[in-house]
Amino acid sequence: SRTAAVIPAAGRGVRLGPGAPKALRPLNGTPMLIHAVRAMAASRAVSLVVVVAPPDGAAEVKSLLASHALPERTDFLVITGGDTRQESVKLGLDALPPGIDIVLVHDAARPLVPVDTVDAVIEAVRAGDPAVVPALPLADTVKQVEPREKGEPEPVVATPERARLRAVQTPQGFDRATLVRAHETVALSGEGATDDAGMVEQLGVPVVVVPGHEEAFKVTRPLDLVLAEAVLARRRA
Ligand code: C5P
Repeated sequence: SRTAAVIPAAGRGVRLGPGAPKALRPLNGTPMLIHAVRAMAASRAVSLVVVVAPPDGAAEVKSLLASHALPERTDFLVITGGDTRQESVKLGLDALPPGIDIVLVHDAARPLVPVDTVDAVIEAVRAGDPAVVPALPLADTVKQVEPREKGEPEPVVATPERARLRAVQTPQGFDRATLVRAHETVALSGEGATDDAGMVEQLGVPVVVVPGHEEAFKVTRPLDLVLAEAVLARRRA
C-alpha cells in the first residue's frame, strides 16, 4: 500500500496575531510548514506530501520546499487552498495520483508531531481501520454552554464526563476511498469541518482513536509559539 500526506496550510492564523499566513511563520528560524512537511516525510511509509498553500502563497511555498533539505525518497506537490480547512483538504484529495490507498491529513499548525505517532496512525489504517485519529485525554474539565454575546456570562448546559473525552490531533489517517466519499457527500455549512474524521463519522463509518502525543499540539495562539520553540530547543540539546 502507498501512503500520501495532505497538509492543509492555507489558513491565515488570525488567532496567532497579525503577520504572514500561520504556516509560513518561523519556529526557531524555519517556517512552521517546513517542520510539518519534515514530520510527515520522516515516516518511511509516506511516499508523497501534498501541501495546500494559501491562495496567494503557492510560489512562496514551492521555493521554501526547494530551499530546505527534505528526504529524497519523498515526492512533493504544492496546490492552492480554499476558504475553509474542509475545502483545502478536498482540493488536496483531488490532487492525489492513482496508486495511493492511504491518506493522512495533517495540519501545518502541528509542526512537531513525532514520527512514531505518524507511523502508529498509518499502521492502524493498514491493519484495517478505515479512519484513525490520534488523541489525548483532556487536562481541563469541559462545559457545554449556551453561547452569549462576547463578555456576557454564558449559562452552562452540560458537563460531559471528562474521562470519556479526547482532544484529537493530526495526522488523521484514512482509507483513501472512505475519505474521498466523505468529502464528496458530507455537506457542512459555515466554517466547515474542523476535523476530517468527523465527516467520516457522518457516513456511519467507524472511527478509532490511537494515543496521540503532547508534542502534536496545535500552534494556535501566541503562547503556543513559545512552547513550540522550547520543544525544538530541547530536541537539539
Ligand atoms: O484554523 P485551524 O488552526 O483549525 O487550521 C488548521 C489547519 O487548516 C491549519 O494548518 C491551516 O493552515 C489549515 N487551513 C487551510 N485552509 C483554510 C483554513 C485553514 O488549509 N481555509
